[in-house]
Amino acid sequence: MDLLIPDKAHDESRQGEALVLEPNGKHNGRKLYIESYGCAMNFSDSEIVASILADKGFETTKDFNNADVVFINTCSIRENAEVRVRNRLKEFAGAKFKNPGMVVGVLGCMAERLKAKFLEEEKLVDVVVGPDAYRDLPNLIEQVDNGQRAVNVLLSREETYADINPVRLNSNGINAFVSIMRGCDNMCSFCVVPFTRGRERSRDAASVVAECTDLFNQGYREVTLLGQNVDSYKWTAPVAEGGEALAVGDEVKIVNFANLLEMVALVSPDLRVRFSTSHPKDITDEVLYTIAKYDNICNYIHLPVQSGNSRILDLMNRTYDREWYINRIDAIRRIIPECAISTDMITGFCTETDEEHKDSVTMMDYVKYDFAYMFKYSERPGTLAAKRYADDIPEDVKQARLAEIVAKQQEYSYYRMQARLGRVEKVLIEGFSKKSDKDYCGRSDQNAMVIFPVTEGYKPGQYANVLVERTTSATLIGRIV
Ligand code: 5AD
Ligand code: SF4
Repeated sequence: MDLLIPDKAHDESRQGEALVLEPNGKHNGRKLYIESYGCAMNFSDSEIVASILADKGFETTKDFNNADVVFINTCSIRENAEVRVRNRLKEFAGAKFKNPGMVVGVLGCMAERLKAKFLEEEKLVDVVVGPDAYRDLPNLIEQVDNGQRAVNVLLSREETYADINPVRLNSNGINAFVSIMRGCDNMCSFCVVPFTRGRERSRDAASVVAECTDLFNQGYREVTLLGQNVDSYKWTAPVAEGGEALAVGDEVKIVNFANLLEMVALVSPDLRVRFSTSHPKDITDEVLYTIAKYDNICNYIHLPVQSGNSRILDLMNRTYDREWYINRIDAIRRIIPECAISTDMITGFCTETDEEHKDSVTMMDYVKYDFAYMFKYSERPGTLAAKRYADDIPEDVKQARLAEIVAKQQEYSYYRMQARLGRVEKVLIEGFSKKSDKDYCGRSDQNAMVIFPVTEGYKPGQYANVLVERTTSATLIGRIV
């Protein structure tokens, strides 16, 4: 599942933003410019890339005109994501013309999807690197320095970058992404991710906990555990300390996602834990009980439904039907009554009738999502749907259906916000609000954005109890009590 996280990586303002980090004291005299598109995993990967290159002495810059290496970490999920990257490459052309030694690299999903074809199609590009090949970047840059163009799009069954402690780009020092697994084995028929990010593999649980502990000790107060499908996280750990190879007869311990959540929650009660993304087929009651048990595991679940109709869900190869999904929603409401729920929805999937679309609308009525990402179906080359089904819903019908669910969601977002009026929310202060440095902003446990006046004695990184006095459909407004 794809890691759309409200107001974080998927905040429109972060898409394509220059990502920079504090100098680490190593210099090789060269400057790296990196920008990222798409999901939170891509933003997290850009931090791995920056770590690998910072270690080789690269410093980051906000201006691609001054850079020696220009990287664009790409997304392939919908066609317009790719169009955006192509347009952006055109903007780099002038800088490269002035500085012919500049290395231009395409990273991420689009690199993986197009492979060496990218070099033919975009003359500007020197390096094409898939998401499992970032350790090779220093070599690939060297190849370009020696006059060759370079490609590494090998996917791996093992690579989790577990040992790389990523630097944090554009960090506020409070929230961080921590990747816990890579790839996806689900093969939803509309989705390119299994092709661009390869097979699913989980990262060593001990390294996840160590990274979260380290973040907490540096002052971070919130981690978001990332995976395409966090509920299928599975790590087989040797019980003995030290992590030696397992010998026959050794006792082993399997760490599932509920166990991992608990391990991270125990790092400190002051460390908030979020996660994304959950898959309706895999989210267990054990996970829900773990969320309910720990105050610092946030009451917020992103549970993409994609469609409310069982026939369409079957064509999408989602491996659950409407009843199953509703059963999971009911379980969340039962076990974590205060839980906020968000979703992803696709309109106009192949052969979807008006009646079937209505099932998506009634699903929204049933759940009353706090938040939703909504898309028109966009056929992606190489996917099962592209091979099997015609993309036969006219653009205007897709658009009208999308407009209908967007309007519906607007109502429910407002409804959910209104329900918080007069309540006191525990907010982790993240910084000044975008509009004014007289106000702080931060997020509630349920992931709602909260704005309130700066108050003496409170600083970013601290928790505050905020009484909600007003709302919009996206924000709670109040004051510290
Ligand atoms: N067309 C439209 N939306 C898509 N998504 C993934 N693939 C496609 C596609 N081909 C949506 C899904 C997914 C989210 C990240 O993007 O809703 O959960
Ligand atoms: Fe998510 Fe399905 Fe794509 Fe996997 S295949 S990333 S579960 S949408």
